[in-house]
Amino acid sequence: METRTAECRPFGQLNRGDSVDCITLRNGALSASILTLGATLQGLVVPDRAGEPADIVLGHDDPQAYLDHACYLGSVVGRYANRIAGGRFSLDGQPCQVDVNNGPNSLHGGTGGFHQRIWQVAGLTADPVPQVTLCLDSPDGDQGFPGQLRGSATYRLHEDRLELVLEAVSNAPTIVNLTGHAYFNLAGQAAGRDISGHHLEIAADSFLPVDATAIPNGPPQPVAGGWFDFTRPRRVGAGLEGGDDPQLALGHGYDHDFVLRAGRQPEPAFAARLSEPESGRVVEVWTTEPGLQFYTGNFLPDGLAGKGGATYGRRGGLCLEPQTHPDTPNRPEFPPCRLAPGQIYRHRILYRFSSDAGA
Ligand code: GLA
Repeated sequence: METRTAECRPFGQLNRGDSVDCITLRNGALSASILTLGATLQGLVVPDRAGEPADIVLGHDDPQAYLDHACYLGSVVGRYANRIAGGRFSLDGQPCQVDVNNGPNSLHGGTGGFHQRIWQVAGLTADPVPQVTLCLDSPDGDQGFPGQLRGSATYRLHEDRLELVLEAVSNAPTIVNLTGHAYFNLAGQAAGRDISGHHLEIAADSFLPVDATAIPNGPPQPVAGGWFDFTRPRRVGAGLEGGDDPQLALGHGYDHDFVLRAGRQPEPAFAARLSEPESGRVVEVWTTEPGLQFYTGNFLPDGLAGKGGATYGRRGGLCLEPQTHPDTPNRPEFPPCRLAPGQIYRHRILYRFSSDAGA
């Protein structure tokens, strides 16, 4: 049997008429399913410590469900992942106003962000590594963002890791911040357990405290000794259940950007390690970007219909979203997010899979 395959098949149709395709990449024990809608990671099958496979990301079987619920399950989000205060910023002295869709702020590129678009398959191959490249053209003024932007998302499935490369070029100065918004549940998306029992380590000594609208409102705050200290692995539920940090109340749980020790650099660096003791599954996240949004699925609606009859609810999955820090266009002290014509924006993310031996 062929261990490396890459195939594209019809997935379904949206109420607005668009057809959605699904690309499935297989390599040994791993498989990844990616939709042309939102360049969405719809499924990710990974073995546990006994070799038992399970799908470890939340998703839908019906493409329309991705548009009906603004949860961003597995989508590539852009043009600007995370929030911009008031949807306002100035670029080279020019005021810009982008779509406001999250209280007073712009979130994940606005109401009609990249997660809602049909991306074009620009390359699909099984050899030597199963991979697909999806492309998206975003016109000048799209959701208020300046410049005509061409974005791409390449998923590459190696034997022990999934690589996601996000790239963009623009014909005029603009801003960009692309990431993958997978919700992980390493017990399996259909296991019916929330993520409280997962253990997490984050390679960050500080995080960005936020205001009531989730905009960072001060300098990075050291994590040492507090509920945001993931410098050593700890159970995610500990802070969710017993955390008395006011930031946990403001975020309705964890929904904060961590300042990664490695900063921005050309090769992916270790950002986080997530493990689930019962299955033994482990995912490490590596990135070239300086921030990691850790979000514990606080706004996932109870009763949300998932794949294969699964039902999700609050805390049914957690996100580890590598990215440029939130509200960077208004924060000159953060690593910049400006993209000039002739430059290539490139963000590389690795999700590395392994298993723990167990107790
Ligand atoms: C991000 C945000 C959260 C939430 C989710 C999507 O992780 O930080 O506040 O909006 O996306 O529901």
